[in-house]
Amino acid sequence: MPEFRDKHDLDIRFCVEVLKLQSLHYGWWTGEELTLDNLRKAQVRYTEKLVRLIPSGVKDILDVGCGVGDNAIALAKKGYHVTSISPEKSHARFFAGLQNVRHQVARFEEFSTAEKFGLILMSESNNYFDPDIGLDQCDRLLRPGGYLLISGMFKAKDVCAYAGIRETEGSYVQKAAARGLVPQKSLDITREVLPSVQLGRKLYEEYAVPALAIGKEFVSGMSPLKRALMWLLFSRQVRLYLDTAQYYVERADAQLFTENVRYLQLLFRKA
Ligand SMILES: C[S@@+](CC[C@H](N)C(=O)[O-])C[C@H]1O[C@@H](n2cnc3c(N)ncnc32)[C@H](O)[C@@H]1O
Repeated sequence: MPEFRDKHDLDIRFCVEVLKLQSLHYGWWTGEELTLDNLRKAQVRYTEKLVRLIPSGVKDILDVGCGVGDNAIALAKKGYHVTSISPEKSHARFFAGLQNVRHQVARFEEFSTAEKFGLILMSESNNYFDPDIGLDQCDRLLRPGGYLLISGMFKAKDVCAYAGIRETEGSYVQKAAARGLVPQKSLDITREVLPSVQLGRKLYEEYAVPALAIGKEFVSGMSPLKRALMWLLFSRQVRLYLDTAQYYVERADAQLFTENVRYLQLLFRKA
């Protein structure tokens, strides 16, 4: 993934502050028109369906990579005790004062507690850390009979042209099995989330392309000396920005997505 992910968290800020989304995950679409408003509704539907996958008997949940808290809030409303973790310091404010939600700024790889959980949730966070380290942590943090629930992207085939996806379902299931995590459920919801990708493309073409053209025109109107100075001062930032833009152009390519990605909901149980 590009460098900005660790350093600037630009994409998350863009979703929350510019697009005014209350969730960072894809939406579950049922044939609606591609609009931001329908994306917001589809994101709520995604969370409702995710919560329904939690097996009975679960009481306490570790929400790994909890984003801006919409899943944690929905879970807490259902009466679960939620511990939510994410490395973004700036996101702690979304969790302040929530009932039944305890928030901690931490990377999953380093998260440590004496507690054991009934379920670990990774909603679109499974690709943000090494799967072996993540599964070792699950092994450590789940009580016997506890569950791991993942909702997120997996490679459709071994050689994957879509950036940032680490595992196929098969390779992940093997790694999980090595830690005594037994598959209980596998749902493929690629078709249901695909319109989120298509909407990303539409927004990019409608807003980002004209905005970039204005910026380009502005820079090309400068004197060669000013342009050279600007490049000297800001080349690193410009490269970072262009890498970020390129990353999202790829992420919003529906064909690349359908050929390379399976969006899966996987439930495992610790033996
Ligand atoms: C795409 S967002 C998903 C957020 C949320 N789970 C949701 O469904 O909306 C990915 C989340 O993973 C978090 N994250 C990134 N690196 C992480 C790590 N090493 N350990 C735990 N969470 C991480 C990000 O801060 C972000 O909150």
